Amino acid sequence: MNYNLNQASAKEARKLPALASLRKLVSIISGERHNIVIAFSAIFLNAGLSLLGPYMVGYTIDKYVQTKNYHGVLIFAGILLAMYLVAFIVNYAQMRMMGGIGQRMLFSLRNSIFNKLQDLPLDFFNQNKAGDLISRINNDTDKVNQFFSQSLMQFIGSLITMTGAGILLLIINLPLGLAAMSPALILWIFTRGISPWVRRRNEASLKSLGNLSAEIQESLANFRVVIAFNRRDYFRRRFEEANGENYKRSVQAGIANNMLSPFYSFASNVGQLIVLALGIWFIIKGYFSIGLLISFISYISSFYNPLRQMAALWANFQLALAAWDRISLLLSFENNLKIIPASNEVSSSSCINFANVSFTYPNGKEVLHKVSFNLQKGRTYAFVGPTGGGKTTTASLIARLYDATKGTIFLNGRDIRSYTPCERASKIGFILQEPILFSGTVRDNLLYGNPDCSGLTGDQLGKALEDAKLSGLLKRFDKGLDTPIQMTGDGISLGQKQLISFMRAILRKPELLILDEATANIDTVTEHQLEEIMENLPSSTTRVIIAHRLNTIENADEIFFVNSGKIIPAGSFSEAINLLMHGKVES
Ligand SMILES: Nc1ncnc2c1ncn2[C@@H]1O[C@H](COP(=O)(O)OP(=O)(O)O)[C@@H](O)[C@H]1O
Ligand SMILES: [Mg+2]
Repeated sequence: MNYNLNQASAKEARKLPALASLRKLVSIISGERHNIVIAFSAIFLNAGLSLLGPYMVGYTIDKYVQTKNYHGVLIFAGILLAMYLVAFIVNYAQMRMMGGIGQRMLFSLRNSIFNKLQDLPLDFFNQNKAGDLISRINNDTDKVNQFFSQSLMQFIGSLITMTGAGILLLIINLPLGLAAMSPALILWIFTRGISPWVRRRNEASLKSLGNLSAEIQESLANFRVVIAFNRRDYFRRRFEEANGENYKRSVQAGIANNMLSPFYSFASNVGQLIVLALGIWFIIKGYFSIGLLISFISYISSFYNPLRQMAALWANFQLALAAWDRISLLLSFENNLKIIPASNEVSSSSCINFANVSFTYPNGKEVLHKVSFNLQKGRTYAFVGPTGGGKTTTASLIARLYDATKGTIFLNGRDIRSYTPCERASKIGFILQEPILFSGTVRDNLLYGNPDCSGLTGDQLGKALEDAKLSGLLKRFDKGLDTPIQMTGDGISLGQKQLISFMRAILRKPELLILDEATANIDTVTEHQLEEIMENLPSSTTRVIIAHRLNTIENADEIFFVNSGKIIPAGSFSEAINLLMHGKVES
């Protein structure tokens, strides 16, 4: 399945119509409906008040200034002041409210993206860079939030004021109103025309920001190699390139976003000029009073100022739209490893059964071709073969990190796809080739993902470790269970990390234990200890050992050769050696 977020084909296939996309965004903030209604009422009130102002000024001039009734002027000035004060308070309340809504939206948006990431399969992470995902969670959500908390209300407020002013202009004088607004119509057509182009420029700018973040993430994650091989210059150069690209794209997006502003200012000036010229002519002809012209000019400002403001906000809007596109694409992905209904469970003595299984990675490489084999419960199996032969891939299929492209895999006689992730994880202990630990202590790491043991007191845990014969291994850590672990893996050796993942898997008492070259960095004495620990597991436990050191697989009941898309049974250790000697299989 194509999970690549930066590939145009994936994007096109999942492009949601604008309305559906917006609906999804609204569903994320559905808890805020009440607050949004209040904020919108505030906007309406505000726009209404600001539209009433010019009319009152014009009225005062015609009615009281021209007749020199200064008492009336004072009263109207007082009313205006009161109106402006109310508008100020409403404005302030609305801003506070939207700030809160914006932050809460940011909170839920980040949560939904992170939860989606937790849902998605390994395939997704193979196809996307961690840094780009981080950028989506941090930067893109923030762009959407900035628009929501700062610009949206202004945008809508401006829109309402503008519409109101436009209607009043037409009511006061239809021909003059139409003439005054004609520059805006041309602007509108122009804006619509260039919008897609501006949106693309914003997309490119956000994408380059994602690349920059991926670049940083990669060099930080591999800093050990970077330093050891003195690759600093190389990474510096790559970073400079990504940074330069991002700079260029951001400048381009910035220009595209702001290019409208001068046009809007110009249109506004032209509009006012038209009104002034025609208006004075109207007054001379006697169609118009001075007060009415002053109201009219005020309304022209109330029409063009919000329009100018909207041109500035439009930049934020375009950026938010592009950011939302990137987020909604991620949210639209579904885990393709679906749980299918369980067929009738056949009680079976086999633990794992591959029936005609083929597997191809999304990049097109076929690693297994029509493979069938059977692993009996309670026995020990070894998988050997050349590097890149497909051992880790086979183990990943057994743990359902991927689904077979063709054929079926059975776990305890039931299609492996019918188990919930929880059920499956409780049965299978998988010790990865690259041990992965979490920040905390050795204890935290041992208890990770182990609901049975996490409630145990210190003494009980000690006993559980003793029973599993694991306590001896703890001597390899200075502070035993309390030895601190950092996620970067500093401070302990690779072998020690492998020991921890080994203990973690054993403590969970899995029915099936898979060791993927998991003891490659452990000394021979300790390795013998591990063998004893494995023998101490219940006799029903099935063990799959992937190894390249022959001594590790001596005790296996059956050995499989994994190579060139095939998995061939080779009998016991001595039989396998025999096959190898006679060149029947390659290792
Ligand atoms: N995530 C992946 N995406 C694409 N190809 C992969 C991936 N992982 C492994 N491969 C390819 O599949 C083949 C088998 O890899 P693997 O199962 O890791 O081999 P082994 O564990 O036997 O050394 C290799 O040629 C490798 O290039
Ligand atoms: Mg491997």
